[in-house]
Amino acid sequence: MSDQQIIVEGGRKIQGTAQISGSKNVVSKMIIASLLTSEQCIIENVPIISDIEPTLELCTKVGSKMEINKKLHLYKIKTAKINSSFVPELSRKNRISILAIGPLLYRTGQAEVPVLGGCPIGHRPVNLHIEALNKLGARIERRENSYYAEVKQLQGAHIDLSYPSVGATENILLSSVCAKGTTRVNNIAIEPEVLSLIDMLRKMGAHIKCNPKKRRLEVKGVKYLKGVKVCVPPDRNEMVSFACAALATGGEIFIPEANTQLIGQFIQKVKKLGVKVVLDKKGVLFSGKPPFLPVNIQTAPHPSFMTDWQQPFCVLLTQAKGTSIIHETVYEDRFGYTKELNRMGAKITVSDECLGFKPCRFYEQTFLHSASVTGPTPLLGTVLNIPDLRAGMAHLIAALLAQGKSTLTGVEHLDRGYEAIEKRLRALGAKIKRVESN
Ligand code: EPU
Repeated sequence: MSDQQIIVEGGRKIQGTAQISGSKNVVSKMIIASLLTSEQCIIENVPIISDIEPTLELCTKVGSKMEINKKLHLYKIKTAKINSSFVPELSRKNRISILAIGPLLYRTGQAEVPVLGGCPIGHRPVNLHIEALNKLGARIERRENSYYAEVKQLQGAHIDLSYPSVGATENILLSSVCAKGTTRVNNIAIEPEVLSLIDMLRKMGAHIKCNPKKRRLEVKGVKYLKGVKVCVPPDRNEMVSFACAALATGGEIFIPEANTQLIGQFIQKVKKLGVKVVLDKKGVLFSGKPPFLPVNIQTAPHPSFMTDWQQPFCVLLTQAKGTSIIHETVYEDRFGYTKELNRMGAKITVSDECLGFKPCRFYEQTFLHSASVTGPTPLLGTVLNIPDLRAGMAHLIAALLAQGKSTLTGVEHLDRGYEAIEKRLRALGAKIKRVESN
């Protein structure tokens, strides 16, 4: 637990041009991909967030040598030799370690990595990862706190994913690029983060054909991959977070590099709230202020409305006139944050029904995966305990628009995914500071 708190005096407009960091959900995969070559990989625009630390720890333990320049956001990683592919004792703070199995199997034929951590937003099984690795020829054993894997040589395979999982698609990519033969995959995830990993692997020499429209992938295994210089693309979750912070407080904000490929469904839905959106080659300008119009949203895999956006969007819906619905179909337990919003004055009820939309895969189960939000309701500043990363952003935005002072604890969850968030919000007009708690 961090001893730090963030203190916010609400009611100030967030406005200006947001500085967007490199994507959290791309950078760690790029670091793992660097394990596939003995040559140096140079990664630019690395966000300075705590989420990458367990991945760096894993790479260092297996033998990577790193030159890190945090000021320049520049990481150079070279894994000339794998010293050990057994790292079961590493910290379980993120969901990346399972992605190292493929590269470690390719380099040494064996791997042992810790079971996964990450945000508490549902059960989060890894069955699709394991089934795919099995198809590629690996034998996987679940041990008490780790996964052990071994293989003589990874072999191309035909894989039909029953759900377009981001992590499982990335795992298949990282495991098949150097496998013997061709791997064909149906129903892949086509999130921009997955496409960024494909770009990097291609630059390293991988043979990958991807048809996003058909959700199909074909990978022809190669014998070796080479070093590469890549730049982490901007984080689209940050784009949405800053846009919501500005709109909730009645500010106007320009998000550089934002475009409809990255945040298309978000743009469509904020327009329905009554927000003005001006798109040009350099980015997107959002302007609008509460009260908004009510809007129903359903989260689903890309290109639909992303699950990581519903939390900041929900804060906007507390300021919409009437009742809005959020139907979450990606994670079964992602509305925990609404309790704190209700304590601030919001009117949000969660339900295990598929409210407002067709039945989803959580139909007739007991998961509280729909929310109905009635507004507009004034929010009052209070003490807020952050339970996970995106919940933390919802709490922070609620604190920015609330009347009075809010104290946010559990700040380490925000630090996992947002670099120096209080400094960037202060530059945009927030009255916000980070303090050591007593
Ligand atoms: N799933 C399975 N079996 C599997 C894998 C996934 O049932 O083997 C289920 C999950 O339980 C979940 C759904 O499929 O219900 C989606 O999971 P997916 O594998 O697509 O997500 P992920 O790779 O675990 C990444 C991001 C998440 C983001 C999702 C969806 C990283 C490290 N995490 O997770 O980001 O929400 O894709 O886009 O890339 C965040 O940044 O706060 C975050 C949670």
